This record gives sequence, structure tokens and C-alpha cells, in this order.
Amino acid sequence: LTTSFDTSIVSLPHTSYRIFTGMDILSMIGPVAQEEKIPHRVVTIADTVTQELFGNRVESSLKNFGFMTDGISVPPGESSKSLENVRKLYDRLYDLHIGRDTALLALGGGVIGDLTGFVAATYLRGLPYIQVPTTLLAQVDSSVGGKVGVNLPYGKNLVGAFYQPTFVFIDVQTLATLPERELRSGLAEVVKYGMILDERFLLQLEEKFDTLIVPELDQYPEIIKQCCAMKAIVVGRDEKEEGYREILNFGHTVGHAVEASTGYRVLTHGEAITYGMIAETLLSERTGRLSGKEADRLISILKRLNPPPLPDTLNAAEIYERMFGDKKVRKGKLRFTLLTRVGVAEPGVTPPEEPLKEILDELYRITPAV
Ligand SMILES: NC(=O)c1ccc[n+]([C@@H]2O[C@H](COP(=O)([O-])OP(=O)(O)OC[C@H]3O[C@@H](n4cnc5c(N)ncnc54)[C@H](O)[C@@H]3O)[C@@H](O)[C@H]2O)c1
Repeated sequence: LTTSFDTSIVSLPHTSYRIFTGMDILSMIGPVAQEEKIPHRVVTIADTVTQELFGNRVESSLKNFGFMTDGISVPPGESSKSLENVRKLYDRLYDLHIGRDTALLALGGGVIGDLTGFVAATYLRGLPYIQVPTTLLAQVDSSVGGKVGVNLPYGKNLVGAFYQPTFVFIDVQTLATLPERELRSGLAEVVKYGMILDERFLLQLEEKFDTLIVPELDQYPEIIKQCCAMKAIVVGRDEKEEGYREILNFGHTVGHAVEASTGYRVLTHGEAITYGMIAETLLSERTGRLSGKEADRLISILKRLNPPPLPDTLNAAEIYERMFGDKKVRKGKLRFTLLTRVGVAEPGVTPPEEPLKEILDELYRITPAV
């Protein structure tokens, strides 16, 4: 069975789990769940889009292997990652009379993964859950590492837990229906891995960038596998973000502030992070870490991700203020992950104010690469 997939392992102090990656493998979820000794009852949580696209295939594969299944769907979009929805899901699970002999299965992008994981972490003090990510962002990032949670009206991901899945099951073929904008958004996180951890990986991406956007899906299993392997190493060294894991936040200090200032509606997460990575690359240069040549190279890759222009209604002062609402702030000081060279990141840096404010002003003049 396992020969149909690539598997990698996330090894943590108290648990370990497998990531299965392959092409057109959705109908193999039943046998894998059986091999992974998942409880006999599985409740799939999806958004209405992913339920429609993939729900039947997942549920019938599970049924064929003796699992009892139910499906719940929520509306698509970031607004579903709310405590109101958590409450609705608890109510549905209660109505279904589920007990601890039940696993939840997150079928969708990062919104569904974070929401389902949070419900799994808390309902009945914890149910096992499976991640079946269907966006590129979720396949390379959010489904691995166990950060689960929801938003509050005044901030993103403010309520949550570290709660690891039983296994992660990535069918790359699901990306065939993903809108190009969402694909580019996920590519931002892919590029991030190269920037912070692996220059050779970044070079491979630069060389085939155009075919990644088209996209030629055949290339993606290998890319996704490499990203998951990098994330597994980082999470394995620092599961609860006590230090080293912060390198994954490259681009996110500015990126989250951009997202918050635009009400989470104008830009996708990946687009906001693209701006964040541009700003934090410039900051790495102006604080004497990266050379001008290195910074130019990185910024030209990021511009190829083609994020839409920042709205005029936003201003640099607001982005600056928003950064202080970040979870990474310590004793009133901002913390960044900066690059010391391409492929090497330094977490926990508090840069001087001036270059940072100048850079935020410059973000408005960023134009996409043609
Ligand atoms: N837990 C983590 O470590 C972590 C890391 C990064 C991001 N996140 C979170 O992830 C969320 C963003 O995730 P996302 O970008 O996947 O967004 P998403 O889950 O909202 O999915 C984006 C859109 O794509 C649609 N979709 C999903 N799969 C599809 C497919 N195969 N074909 C067609 N349409 C499909 C969805 O219905 C949705 O409308 C944010 O809430 C962010 O905070 C979490």
C-alpha cells in the first residue's frame, strides 16, 4: 500500500506522525486510515466548495474500508474560522452522539484545517484528527506542525492550541481545481522555505517559476514533499515556538499587520505575506545582513508572485501600529525573523525604527514583475 505514496515523518518529543503525499490518491484514504488505526467513526469537516469537490470520494473510500462516516460543511472563507462556528460544530457533533471513538477529518484549505484541529483539540478534551489539505498553502504549511485555532473579531489566530494530527494525507491532484490566485498565495509559502532554509531549493524554483504558475502539477509532489520535510525538521526542533520555529514567521510580522489593516478581505494570506517578505528582505539589507545584490534577487522572485497593489486606503503608519498587536511582541518590542544570507534566517531580531518605517512607505511603490 505505502508504495503508492511518498511518506515522511514528523518526529516530536511526545508523538510522531506520517505525511502521505501522492497524485490522485484521495480514494486511498480508507486503507491508509485503517493502517493508521483510526477509530471506526470519522466525521469529515469541509467547506461547501471542498465538500462538493472531494467529499464523496473521501467518504466512500472510508466506508469501503468499514468506517462509519458523517460530513459537516461550513461556508468557505476566513470568516468561518470563528468561535461561533466552533460552537456550531460542537452542537453538530453532540447531535451526532459522537464519543471518543471518533476521529475528525479536515478536508480543505488552511481555514478548515485550523478550525477542525481546534474543535478536535477541545471537544471531549480531545479527539484524534486527520489533515487532508486541498490548497497549496495547506499542503506545504498549515496542515503540518499542529498549530490550530480560530480568530477573534479583533485579531487573527488569537485562540488556539498546539495539537498534532494523527496523519496528514496530501493528494496533489486536488490542486487541479484551485484558482490561480490561491495557487500563487501558496507559492509564497513555498518560496519562503527556500529563502529561510535552502538556497538550492530556491534556485530550482527560480528556474521553473513559470511552469509552477501554469501549473504543471507533476512537479508539485516533489516540491510539496520538500517543503513538508523542511517544516518537519523545524517543528521537530521546536514544537511550541519557543525560539527556532520563529524562522517560519519570516514575512509574517509585516504580513499579518498588512492583513489586519485590510480587514482580511482585500488580500489573501499569501499575498499579504509576499508584501511582508519584501519588507523584511529590505530590512535584512538595511540592517547590514543581506547584500544589495542578494536583496534584489529575492525581491525579484517575490514580485513574480504578483500580489495585487496595496489599497490606497491603507497607510504605513497604520501597518506600523498594527505590528504591535502581533503575538511575537515581547516587552513592547517588535520581533522579526531576518535573513543573514539567502537560505539562512535569524529569528528574534528587534530592528531600529527608522529603516522599518521607511520600508513600509516604500511598499506602496512596489510594482509586480512583468
Ligand atoms: N496552522 C498553521 O500553521 C497555518 C499556517 C499558515 C496559514 N494558516 C491559516 O490558513 C488559512 C488560509 O488557508 P488557505 O489559503 O488554504 O485558505 P482557505 O482554506 O480559505 O482556502 C481558500 C479557498 O480555496 C477553496 N478551495 C480549497 N481547496 C480547493 C480546491 N482544491 N479547489 C478549488 N477550491 C478550493 C476554499 O473553498 C476557499 O474558498 C488562514 O486562516 C491562515 O491563518 C495556518
